Amino acid sequence: MEESGPLKINYLRLSVTDRCNLRCVYCTYWRDWQKLPSGEILRYEELLRLTAIAAEAGIRKVRLTGGEPLLRRGLVNFIEKLKRLPGIDQVCLTTNGVLLKELAPALFGAGLRRLNVSLDTLKRERYRRITGSDRLPAVLAGLEKATSLGFNPLKINCVVLRGLNDDEILDIARLARDHPFQVRFIELMPTASRTWWQRHFLPMAEVRQRLAVLGSLEPSIREAAAGPARIFRAPGFRGELGFISPMSQHHCGVCNRLRLSSDGALRPCLLEEKELDLKGALRQGVSDALLGHLFQKVISLKLRKSAHPITGLKAIPCDLPMVSIGG
Ligand code: 5AD
Repeated sequence: MEESGPLKINYLRLSVTDRCNLRCVYCTYWRDWQKLPSGEILRYEELLRLTAIAAEAGIRKVRLTGGEPLLRRGLVNFIEKLKRLPGIDQVCLTTNGVLLKELAPALFGAGLRRLNVSLDTLKRERYRRITGSDRLPAVLAGLEKATSLGFNPLKINCVVLRGLNDDEILDIARLARDHPFQVRFIELMPTASRTWWQRHFLPMAEVRQRLAVLGSLEPSIREAAAGPARIFRAPGFRGELGFISPMSQHHCGVCNRLRLSSDGALRPCLLEEKELDLKGALRQGVSDALLGHLFQKVISLKLRKSAHPITGLKAIPCDLPMVSIGG
């Protein structure tokens, strides 16, 4: 059901590392990326403290992102503790899947069930071109392992790139016919140069047209803490299809998320420079009450703002630091 009533900011994305083992074409951050000194990255105890305080401020769902979260040592143990925090109902992980096969059993054992895997192509050579790494077989093996263990929901995130993977839209959608996946198509955001974005952007309406051969899509019921994806089921499909249109449709009215970067900056919006240095406060030894106040401040800042600058495809910000703030 569509959520009614006022928007609640109940979703926190935690970037646990700025490192990534892929070099995706749309993510230019790595080109002049300097690894953060490890002391600058929030320690697990710090992340747990902040998340507990965030839960007090109304956060119910936490997603671990990166960089690539599976690169961080000790993640499984961290997830176990996160799952036990009062108030946190959902813990999810976004991964590129490269290390998933090896880590899936331990992640499952830690109680993790909700998994998003990035996958933009099913062709090996193309995967190498898009991500800079010949790891498609590893990702597919990871997906298979995760499916057999029973991760649920298992979502596939596919960034649609005109001229690079748009001839595979149907094949990728059919993953949700053959497996219980939620396959989500995402409009390309202008994280690389503007000309590159213009060349490769494909609006979601066109994706939908190309999927018309699948038959009429039945809207699925929305989860309470669901994001901006519109979810459907196609006739005969085991899984679902999702469409995420950050460029052609405003998300701001339904955006319920805050982002904490791996070096401890809290952001109310992906597309704004504004951020609050939580790590600084934390390491100066401030109280839980004050940290809670800082969360509240960012939440009210977010609720007051109605639209971000991407709206209308005019003022398109480039060089978004996706790697550090977690996609
Ligand atoms: N456009 C759309 N999605 C992006 N992501 C990262 N960069 C972009 C971009 N430019 C998201 C995708 C991807 C994950 C790593 O982050 O979901 O799968």
